[in-house]
Amino acid sequence: MAVDLLLGLQWGDEGKGKIVDVLTNNYDIIARFQGGPNAGHTLEFDGIKHVLHTIPSGIFHKNAINVVGNGVVIDPVIFKKELDNLQKFNLDIHSKLLISRKAHLILPTHRLLDAASEASKGKAKIGSTLKGIGPTYMDKTGRNGIRVGDLEMSDWEEKYRSLADKHESMIAYYDVQLDYDLKDLEDDFFEAVEELKKLTFIDSEEYLYQAQKDGKKILAEGAQGSLLDIDFGTYPYVTSSNTTAAGACTGLGVAPNQIGEVFGIFKAYATRVGSGPFPTELFDADGETMGRVGNEFGATTGRPRRCGWLDLVALKYAVQVNGVTALMMMKGDVLSGFEQLKVCTSYNYKGDIITHLPYNIDPENITPIYTEMEGWAQDLTKMDSPDQFPKNLNDYIHFLEKELGVPIKIVSVGPDRTQTIHR
Ligand code: GDP
Ligand code: IMO
Ligand code: MG
Repeated sequence: MAVDLLLGLQWGDEGKGKIVDVLTNNYDIIARFQGGPNAGHTLEFDGIKHVLHTIPSGIFHKNAINVVGNGVVIDPVIFKKELDNLQKFNLDIHSKLLISRKAHLILPTHRLLDAASEASKGKAKIGSTLKGIGPTYMDKTGRNGIRVGDLEMSDWEEKYRSLADKHESMIAYYDVQLDYDLKDLEDDFFEAVEELKKLTFIDSEEYLYQAQKDGKKILAEGAQGSLLDIDFGTYPYVTSSNTTAAGACTGLGVAPNQIGEVFGIFKAYATRVGSGPFPTELFDADGETMGRVGNEFGATTGRPRRCGWLDLVALKYAVQVNGVTALMMMKGDVLSGFEQLKVCTSYNYKGDIITHLPYNIDPENITPIYTEMEGWAQDLTKMDSPDQFPKNLNDYIHFLEKELGVPIKIVSVGPDRTQTIHR
């Protein structure tokens, strides 16, 4: 069986958690392939809201196996908190949640290095979630990292000590004021590692290979979004992993010719949290309304998200880079009540009109050019069929499908599992 992918096409927080939860009914295995606790994936059902950071969003389904892939970076402390939050649901974590031995561990000193690096950058800071993501992936590519499988080896604590010591000298190099008590942080870390060791570690690429051979249906869950991809995002204001489709191959060990559907998920408008260029960002009442109605606050950090109109130049680029086969449009309900909607369809780039994403999208180089459309007043949140959609919403959807050349198969009209309309 082919492996399907679900990926965010913007700057993250598109609603991946919600849709993975909805789609899990159709899959045997949900596998996260990159990122770590910088992600915050929100699920809502039965009146309860859950935020997952490392654990895949299929965890609440009785029959689904959830795999944390080799491409993911795990902070045992945050992982333990996630597990504690799940305790009341009586899930069979030991058999339902499997961790790749090749996933890298985030150490307390990775978090400190993240903070030191950001503090040293001043105004140029990335706006990182400060979860230690960048430094952990740096140690991975620098071939210094500690992996989950190392916890089964006898010498891992020595490896830990020498890496943590090295990190401490690097922190000193940054020459910034950081108040921390490493001993305290390490107490929490080692306690959490003991919890992690109670879980099931697997050779995930082999497990997923056999699962495919056995005809199991697998959905790979992405974190962040394409515009935060280390290669294709708005560098350097990106995360440190490949959030795009190729990341699923390296982050799970799935061969490219085994990829089936690529589900691309986007908000009906755009948001970004953290620093970096955002051509269609709004600084007016419309942006404020999107933020308020859409409850746009980071699921991991609580920071307000910047809001703006949908950017089709950037979205088209993401569709292209990922080979998206079906689209899902989220938060259409948030646009109810806007008289006019704007969609960016091209950029004025240093005087030229362009429709592709250029190397640099800083405000001094580009001005977005908009197509205006009539909005709709109707509340969408109680609708359960596309037949009930107002004409102007249908026009909006058809316009996007034509521009992007890919069908929009799901329209989400609220945060709850049930507020999901299939087209
Ligand atoms: P993820 O990181 O892609 O999983 O997305 P987040 O969970 O960080 O952010 C999406 C937010 O939007 C969450 O608070 C969801 O509960 C919420 N949400 C998802 N879909 C919809 C929708 O269609 N309408 C509204 N109003 N909220 C939604
Ligand atoms: P989900 O999976 C939105 C952003 C941060 C920052 C940049 C780098 O919930 O969509 P990092 O901590 O990775 O070094 O931060 O990336 N960022 C996200 N923004 N959603 C996320 O994940 C994000 N993960 C990281 O705000 O700008
Ligand atoms: Mg999120």
